[in-house]
Amino acid sequence: MRKKSTKNTLIEMKRRGERIVALTSYDYLSTRIIDETGVDLILVGDSLGMVVLGYENTLPVTVEEIIHHLKAVSRAKPRAVLTGDMPFMSYQASVEDAVRNAGRLVKEGGAESVKIEGGERYVPVVKAIVNASIPVMGHLGLTPQSLYEFGGYKVQGKDAESAERLYRDALSLEEAGCFAIVLEGIPWQLAERITKGVGIPTIGIGAGPHCDGQVLVINDMLGIHDKPLPRFVKKYEEIGQRMKLAIQDYVEEVRGGVFPGMDQSYSAGKEKKADE
Ligand code: KIV
Repeated sequence: MRKKSTKNTLIEMKRRGERIVALTSYDYLSTRIIDETGVDLILVGDSLGMVVLGYENTLPVTVEEIIHHLKAVSRAKPRAVLTGDMPFMSYQASVEDAVRNAGRLVKEGGAESVKIEGGERYVPVVKAIVNASIPVMGHLGLTPQSLYEFGGYKVQGKDAESAERLYRDALSLEEAGCFAIVLEGIPWQLAERITKGVGIPTIGIGAGPHCDGQVLVINDMLGIHDKPLPRFVKKYEEIGQRMKLAIQDYVEEVRGGVFPGMDQSYSAGKEKKADE
């Protein structure tokens, strides 16, 4: 039986050159299924806002919403490291806010670590959360909470100056105590440089093949979406299409009087079926 994974497991995996697999999850049953596959890290991401709650972007997501879904996910007792995303404005206004909200994700939601977006300017926040004994995962590059600062979802670090800034950001997050860094939407060359330059694992999403690991939003890789997907997503299934076909069959059978039939019906007689 696989041992419970911790942040140290992931750091060891980088040392051994083993690739790390991460995936988002937002509910109990999906988490059970994901965890059975041996994924190393499960993230209750603020992508929750877009793929579950129907928001335009991740900015409206609240601490309460993340905690609500963290609770469902943590009830599945995953072997994977469980990370909760710190939503927009839960850590930007003050270090005290950040520590208190990170504490809520652990204490109320059952998270084992938290993720925050941003580089050097969040070093005091990372240090304070780590000082409160809560492991922190960093997140650099196309960080969706900075949507308005970037002027849209644009690949970051394409020119030499911004690439250098992101490289320094990565070094400062490691120095501040992060146990891993998500690299999102950056050129693969920069992701490779950062991966070689830091001792903690890098987890890529739209950052090419040279990171120590990979994360995807589960809805995207399963094909449950209503918007065009970025090119970095690989769809492993078309579950959305398959759901629609199955539900159309159900609609037709109910309307046509085919379902329910006698096989799905209880009888007043003595002969009992297994579940009566
Ligand atoms: O919110 C999220 O799901 C994320 C991942 C895509 C890294 O931040």
